[in-house]
Amino acid sequence: MWNIFHNLQQATFPLYLGVDIGTTSIKAVEVKQGEHLPLLVNYGMLELGGYLMRANNALQTSTLKIFEEEAAELLKILVRKMKPKAREVIASFPAFAAFTTVLDFPVMSPEELKKTIAFQAKDYIPQPLSEVALDWMKVGEFSDAKGVRHNQILLISVPREQIKRYQKLFTLAGLRLRALEIENLSLARILTMGDPTPAMIVDIGSRSTSISFATKGSLHFVSQSDFAGSSLTQALAQGLNINPLRAEELKKERGIGNAGQGYELSTIMLPFLDAIINEIKKAQFNYESQFPGAPKPERVVLAGGGANLSGIENYFERDMGLPIVKALPLERFEYAPSLQPIASEIGPVLSVAMGLAMREFI
Ligand SMILES: Nc1ncnc2c1ncn2[C@@H]1O[C@H](COP(=O)(O)OP(=O)(O)OP(=O)(O)O)[C@@H](O)[C@H]1O
Ligand SMILES: [Mg+2]
Repeated sequence: MWNIFHNLQQATFPLYLGVDIGTTSIKAVEVKQGEHLPLLVNYGMLELGGYLMRANNALQTSTLKIFEEEAAELLKILVRKMKPKAREVIASFPAFAAFTTVLDFPVMSPEELKKTIAFQAKDYIPQPLSEVALDWMKVGEFSDAKGVRHNQILLISVPREQIKRYQKLFTLAGLRLRALEIENLSLARILTMGDPTPAMIVDIGSRSTSISFATKGSLHFVSQSDFAGSSLTQALAQGLNINPLRAEELKKERGIGNAGQGYELSTIMLPFLDAIINEIKKAQFNYESQFPGAPKPERVVLAGGGANLSGIENYFERDMGLPIVKALPLERFEYAPSLQPIASEIGPVLSVAMGLAMREFI
């Protein structure tokens, strides 16, 4: 017999989990349709305990190996605490786990483009094509000297092995993986949707900083740096000869305020922030060389835990000469009024997870 109720419920009240597995933490949001906007039902953030003491143990590493057992354990704990009603997950890959490149093709039909990409991709992708999943999207267009129109295509390749690991991970936690995307897409969606001002999104995580160029929800270009939050913590630990846990606390308490007690901390951390700024400028140069006609970024949106470093906005603004804002993904959602006081603090950290969940509501 048909279970009409069950089906109706699924169709009318879909609930999704957006899950962002970072190098040192997992963040999840549960979202359903609200009255006008998607409604944030629940969220959770769990940090990998002790990662600071074990510098080489992280959930994601640049060699693509996830510490499956640890990640699965964390995910199970998160699920136990959040008690989500949703079972369907949209999850993200970190930028460094995917290979991305921008390619030019003369304008052609979507079918032709598909064939051409499948044929040419092997020349650009470091792994054998049989081992990767490919995705692509149009990110720009231009006319060459002869007046021929070209499309610029962002090609994304992810090892199939990595996708299988993710599927297994979520199955172990009693969830079902519905979709996977690189985190830059989620960030572009949630932080630039409907906004015509070209933006640079700088996500300062623990192990890496990702830089995304996006306008109106569409991603154009991505870049990435290994200078990030843990670079600051390590510098403090070494510079002050203190243990990394204490260094992490100090970083979060004091930030880079210039006056008084914070002065010594700032002098230790600033060279690493300068390194991040240099990487952003390098990415900007590469973006502008690749998309000469495209509008230049007019604002910088800071995401990731590193966006909460006290004083970072002023410091970046002085150096970069662009308006700097902290990510506020909650603006796109309905949420409990009790979250209002912490919206600006949790927003940058939850940006990827919220962007993932938003995928099902547009
Ligand atoms: N208030 C704060 N001030 C300074 N740094 C902070 C603050 N809060 C969090 N961080 C830093 O943010 C980083 C964690 O950010 P996030 O949770 O975005 O990382 P992640 O997603 O696990 O890592 P990645 O994106 O590199 O995989 C840590 O380095 C942490 O020290
Ligand atoms: Mg992250």
